[in-house]
Amino acid sequence: MIHYTIEELLKNNQSWAARKRALQPNYFDELSAGQKPPYLYVGCSDSRLPLTRYTQTEPGEIFVHRNIANQVSLTDINFLSVLDYAVDHLKVQHIIVCGHYGCGGITAALEGNTTGLVDNWVNPIRELYLQHQTEIDCLTTREKRINRLAELNVIAQVKNLYQTSIIRKCMREDNAPQIHGWVLNLKTGLIEDMKIETSKWGLHISAYELPLSGSN
Ligand code: CO
Repeated sequence: MIHYTIEELLKNNQSWAARKRALQPNYFDELSAGQKPPYLYVGCSDSRLPLTRYTQTEPGEIFVHRNIANQVSLTDINFLSVLDYAVDHLKVQHIIVCGHYGCGGITAALEGNTTGLVDNWVNPIRELYLQHQTEIDCLTTREKRINRLAELNVIAQVKNLYQTSIIRKCMREDNAPQIHGWVLNLKTGLIEDMKIETSKWGLHISAYELPLSGSN
């Protein structure tokens, strides 16, 4: 694992920018003109998860929100602002919730080995574990239990997205972005698409929320 000094980070930046300019002289003119990313990525803050590296995407392609254990919290004004801006202004076509195996936040929720604010933050995941305790406790290794909870957490956060007023409004207007649940396996560097069946959540809108039809 390479650890650069702060000075080296700045030097790295200079050589990266010079390389970009050499390859494409107008690269930064175009980049600075504005953004129109098709993707919103909701991921874990873990330093090993810059999705752009894993997907070979460039600056300008992925709008990002990251927090510990990639949670979609309906009371998090930070996340909701990102979602609102991504959907309403940037008009992203896809939202990707990407968890990862071996997640420290998931482990903390499962094993209760943390204190302080993180303990509060991961509490919804502890609740999720309690909902699925029978299934998880049957798994034969600690790794399997942590990884299964990471998967269930991705499903829960995709479901939470459908509970936000922002996505519900899109559903009513029939222009909701596609929502995907992924898990990254750090042991292989590969992303697994969980292929979450979202239609049951997407269509679950009460009758009174549907737009009134023409005559009445
Ligand atoms: Co994590």
